[in-house]
Amino acid sequence: MLPLTNRPRRLRSTDNMRRLVRETRLDSNQLICPVFVSEKLSGRSDVTSMPGVAQLSLNDLRDECLLIADLGIPAILLFGIPNQKDELASQAYVENGIVQEAVRAIKRAVPDLIVITDVCLCEYTSHGHCGVVAKDGEKFTVLNDASVELLMKTAVSHAAAGADIIAPSDMMDGRIGAIRSALDAAGYDQIPIMSYASKFCSAFYGPFRDAAESAPQFGDRRAYQMDPANALEALREVALDVEEGAELLIVKPGLPYLDILWRIKERFELPTAVYNVSGEYAMVKAAARSGWIEEKRAVLEMMTGFRRAGADMIITYWAKDLAVWLKDL
Ligand code: PBG
Repeated sequence: MLPLTNRPRRLRSTDNMRRLVRETRLDSNQLICPVFVSEKLSGRSDVTSMPGVAQLSLNDLRDECLLIADLGIPAILLFGIPNQKDELASQAYVENGIVQEAVRAIKRAVPDLIVITDVCLCEYTSHGHCGVVAKDGEKFTVLNDASVELLMKTAVSHAAAGADIIAPSDMMDGRIGAIRSALDAAGYDQIPIMSYASKFCSAFYGPFRDAAESAPQFGDRRAYQMDPANALEALREVALDVEEGAELLIVKPGLPYLDILWRIKERFELPTAVYNVSGEYAMVKAAARSGWIEEKRAVLEMMTGFRRAGADMIITYWAKDLAVWLKDL
């Protein structure tokens, strides 16, 4: 007779037994749902490369947020698409910009829903880069400090509109410290910063750039986003952000960076989110549409993987579906 501990199968024998000994759990309180609001729309406009995701008008956004809150999802991540773009991204930080208006509308309609605003300039610049650009013929440089000035204004305008958490996704150097001081100086010292602390230069952002209309018109983002080959650099970037005042962290993308997620969670011990990005969404959707993969099972397995790798929160375009699926599990 073998000792009991050599018979792990006993612990997998029934559904209840499996549930009882499960190490990693998923629930809708861990989900953050990204939403896109467009100043140009009076209805919804489906994003072709992201089936199930749409750009929304202000009115539709309000209904969407009521639905999200009803499903038991605690937070959204808000992206805006302005009517006009220019070199200085001026619509990113005006008082009546689309994100500022949207935050006010959501806070009126669903006050408890946590509104996290993405702070970046790429949706607002005519060239689609995440900062101010100086061009010299074919060559271009993203001006770090000039960009940080505008990001500070953007963050303060979001907080003034009522945002609960500010999430800078631009990856300029020194932006977390600068935004922290700007928020404090404006009286928003209670508003935490959730930093896209380790954001890699990734092919998996493709569909998002359709959704946010933010594809760069020239060049790419390699100068400011990280090289996928560098894990230690990611840890250094996070350490800087934490020193500068980041209280929540994001690792992005998710699937190809589970090792980074694990190391960041272990080392910094802060609330950590993983961003299951648009390309990760689109590829499963495409395969599922062809009947090549079972969407629900695949998604639950991915989410479990994120949780196992240390994610406290998951930013995912499947948030609403998951909230429904998790009820029946
Ligand atoms: C930048 C930003 C991007 C995403 C979120 N914020 C795109 C980029 O860096 O080009 C991508 C998210 C996704 O792919 O789902 N503002």
